[in-house]
Amino acid sequence: MSNQIKRIAVFTSGGDAPGMNAALRAVVRASIFYNIEVFGIYRGYEGMIDGDFEQLDVRSVANILQRGGTVLKSARSDEFRTKEGRLKAYENLKKHNIDGLIAIGGDGSFTGLHKLYEEYKIPGICVPGTIDNDIAGTDYTIGYDTATNTAVEAIDKIRDTALSHNRLFFIEVMGRDSGYIAINSGIAGGAVAIIIPEQETSIDELVEKINRGADKRKTSSLVVVAEGGKSGSAMEIAEKVNEKSSYFETKVTILGHLQRGGSPTYFDRVLASKMGIAAVEFLNDGKTDSMVGIVNNKMVCNKFDDIMNQPHAIDEESLRIAKILSI
Ligand code: F6P
Repeated sequence: MSNQIKRIAVFTSGGDAPGMNAALRAVVRASIFYNIEVFGIYRGYEGMIDGDFEQLDVRSVANILQRGGTVLKSARSDEFRTKEGRLKAYENLKKHNIDGLIAIGGDGSFTGLHKLYEEYKIPGICVPGTIDNDIAGTDYTIGYDTATNTAVEAIDKIRDTALSHNRLFFIEVMGRDSGYIAINSGIAGGAVAIIIPEQETSIDELVEKINRGADKRKTSSLVVVAEGGKSGSAMEIAEKVNEKSSYFETKVTILGHLQRGGSPTYFDRVLASKMGIAAVEFLNDGKTDSMVGIVNNKMVCNKFDDIMNQPHAIDEESLRIAKILSI
């Protein structure tokens, strides 16, 4: 370990995700382990612009491992998108003698770090934290496992009432433009159909599938809909289906921000701990302009240029499984 870095700053940015606190804890403790001073920046790039910095020690991150949300708070900053905003942020980093940055967040956080490196040569490593699992270069993002478990728990509960009333439910899950939460919560929750942005959906085929189930004495059905699909929201799809099928009374449930909260699963806590430590080690080793990832259970360091604007494709196997199970 070359120990090039003397003082880092860490922050969370974009939508919060369960496990961000576990990642922060790992960054702080690994920094101290390697004799690096560590500052926390509140409210992401907004706090960087406003100078909202605080030095952290081992105790600052006690009892946060199990907590959802982010104790550093998060924001989406419009000012940071401007050159003037970034200059203010840089001046605050200089004032605090920060010589390395770790951002915990999604693709917006990477773009910010990339810009700071391009314009001011501040080394930065990103830790992927978003429930969407929509980032190339990593099999999993922090928070995705917890959010998917939350969705499955909700789907199971909806199934109870759907069964009792012989109803058809359309359940909308988050994911922005990615179908990861939908495909896996749909498989785990036994959905009759899963609608994701990565695949074309034919309403006629969907209606046929629902009707086929009803013909085979299926008394209720669940359809999981990813929020970012081209066929529309769960509400819009339900309306289109209702126009063509009258087998079931139809209901729509939008899970929404419920999926962002809650205590992280063991998987997200361990993933966040590994990624937080890897980020400090990569930075201290002279790596920059990169994102930590987990690929085939190994920590990797991806250059931003290789992963930015790349899709994280849904694996063919999940699509195949969903199709077989929903006949
Ligand atoms: O990126 C995480 C996410 O929860 C997406 O799944 C969702 O589309 C979006 O953030 C919601 O953003 P906001 O919290 O700003 O409404």
